[in-house]
Amino acid sequence: MTDTLDRDDIVRTLEREQGEARAQAEARRRARDTQAENGTPATGRTHRDFRQAEHYQHAYLAIGPAQGSLLYMLARAAGARRIVEFGSSFGISTLYLAAAAEDNDGQVIGSEYYANKREHALASLHDAGLSQRAEIRLGDARDTLADIEGPVDFVFLDGDKSLYLPVLEGLVNQLTSGAWVVADNLDHFDETPGDFRHEIVRDARFTTRLMPIGRGMFSVSRYRG
Ligand SMILES: C[S@@+](CC[C@H](N)C(=O)[O-])C[C@H]1O[C@@H](n2cnc3c(N)ncnc32)[C@H](O)[C@@H]1O
Repeated sequence: MTDTLDRDDIVRTLEREQGEARAQAEARRRARDTQAENGTPATGRTHRDFRQAEHYQHAYLAIGPAQGSLLYMLARAAGARRIVEFGSSFGISTLYLAAAAEDNDGQVIGSEYYANKREHALASLHDAGLSQRAEIRLGDARDTLADIEGPVDFVFLDGDKSLYLPVLEGLVNQLTSGAWVVADNLDHFDETPGDFRHEIVRDARFTTRLMPIGRGMFSVSRYRG
């Protein structure tokens, strides 16, 4: 038996989207190299407001295939039926989560601030034959995910890093015992008190491990309930 993730329409859509994401990231790298050669100072990893950064509206900023496979396996193995995603962008991570939802007869509730990204993500879900498995709420996730009803079995955090904690706090009362919470880009945090990385590894409500995977760093947490 093949996995849902091996289904032709899903494979084709993921390959196309990941190809675009790679090409875009490569073009950005080249532009940075050119700036450096011209002596323009690098901006580094400064925090940019997601509502104003042109970058956020057009860049994929997507997880890679290894991270996507882990999300799919975790969500699928957990039998997750209500899956919430903070930060859907052009929908690459949503495709992996929706494939798990297809296996589990579940549903993904995604969220994205930019309408152009939401439209693109919905078109990809359609191309992958997964439209029935996901909705993507448009606007600031602090508002659009505020009325999520439980039980929530799986959460993926990949929006503005400074909002991981408030978004998770808004969902925690809806989590099932044993729910999984996965967050990307843990390498973006200093682990100073008050930041997500500092808090999640010390939060007694969760068992948490940090996992370098692909080019990123996930935190994988299990809610003790
Ligand atoms: C790193 S990208 C997400 C990539 C996506 N998960 C993937 O792997 O394909 C972050 C996205 O979160 C969105 N975002 C950031 N803060 C948000 C907020 N408060 N509400 C809704 N979307 C937000 C940004 O517009 C951006 O598209």
